[in-house]
Amino acid sequence: MTPFLEVRNVSKSFGGIAALKGISFELAAGEAVALMGGNGAGKSTLVSLLSGLLRPDIGSICIEGADRVLSDPQQSREAGIETVFQNLALCPNLNAPGNLFLGRELYRGFGPFKILDRKAMEKVTVATLQDLGVNVPDMRAPTNRFSGGQRQALAFARAVRGKSKLLILDEPTAALGVEESANVVKTVQRLRKERNIAVLLITHNLEEMRSIADKAVVLRRGHHVGSVLLKETSDDEIVARITGSFGAKAGVAA
Ligand SMILES: Nc1ncnc2c1ncn2[C@@H]1O[C@H](COP(=O)(O)OP(=O)(O)OP(=O)(O)O)[C@@H](O)[C@H]1O
Ligand SMILES: [Mg+2]
Repeated sequence: MTPFLEVRNVSKSFGGIAALKGISFELAAGEAVALMGGNGAGKSTLVSLLSGLLRPDIGSICIEGADRVLSDPQQSREAGIETVFQNLALCPNLNAPGNLFLGRELYRGFGPFKILDRKAMEKVTVATLQDLGVNVPDMRAPTNRFSGGQRQALAFARAVRGKSKLLILDEPTAALGVEESANVVKTVQRLRKERNIAVLLITHNLEEMRSIADKAVVLRRGHHVGSVLLKETSDDEIVARITGSFGAKAGVAA
């Protein structure tokens, strides 16, 4: 079967810094892969390429069997990819419903009488955030008054509202409390079951990696240094691959 996503021999440099060097991997529909690696390994750069924020210098991105040029976030969304970025990318001057419905606003009436349906959008926002167990102090306040965790929950809520086929999560729970993190994990598990959504998860948390993903792709200094099935792989091996000590003693190539 054709995989949902194929990343083929992708490289990306920033000036003299090679952030990604010849990365290739595949992601099947409904599959959940953890993208692991230390700070600066290239994970967020790869996310930016898949989300249409950056273009690869070399290599290609193939979605459902066809080469795709993702030159802006809208094109990535249209290809079925929805992303929660590490730096969140909310509009701080908009309120919670404004952010949740950005670019997909609800209207009532029709033709020249069409007006924004603020009440409906507020209702959906309250319900969506309640589902995630997140309380927002004031639905009408701009999100620059939100805490880091409230913003992260909102960014996540926005991503899972769409009809995406691939959900990319770049450290989705880094700013969340214990309960809210558990709700994010539960929601991702539910989306996989109900919508057979594929997931690309970036996390530094091995427990979260195991509760969401089936496979791990490990990056180190821009290189793809391993793809493993998680049920066959210990945490120690994952850590060793991330740090580059894997196989060093046994003489096995990573
Ligand atoms: N816009 C940019 N301009 C210049 N260098 C960049 C830029 N973005 C990333 N880099 C560099 O590319 C490399 C990979 O960065 P990236 O953000 O992809 O790492 P990461 O794996 O997401 O790390 P972290 O776990 O810290 O988020 C780093 O050396 C970083 O300094
Ligand atoms: Mg990053």
